[in-house]
Amino acid sequence: MQQLLKLLLITLLIALTSIAMADTGEQLHQSACIDCHSRMTGGDGTVLYEREERIVQSLAALQYQTARCSAGAATGWDDAQIQSVVDYLNQSHYHF
Ligand code: HEC
Repeated sequence: MQQLLKLLLITLLIALTSIAMADTGEQLHQSACIDCHSRMTGGDGTVLYEREERIVQSLAALQYQTARCSAGAATGWDDAQIQSVVDYLNQSHYHF
């Protein structure tokens, strides 16, 4: 019984952590990325990710481009932060 409870708690923790990570990815993207993209495209910068001729065509390319733009914007993000933005962009726009 205790084992089961432990397992349940761990599962819950993992689920909560991944929700929190997705939030963080969205917040990071909001704070460092959206302004420049919005200026480029006018209005909502997310059209960049949805347009037909978008550059990013794979998860690897999404990771590459996120790291590239992050470096260009001098965000100072670590790998985990970059990955959470990749996850956010993939879940909300790219769907690889
Ligand atoms: C100073 C402007 C600027 C900032 C800030 C910026 N980007 Fe970009 N982003 C660009 C430009 C310009 C492109 C078009 C491709 C290129 O020339 O590299 C682009 C393209 C992209 C694409 C590919 C879109 C496609 O066609 O599929 C992704 C993904 C992306 N940026 C992610 C980010 C993320 C994540 C951040 C935040 C760290 C960010 N960008 C911040 C300028 C910026």
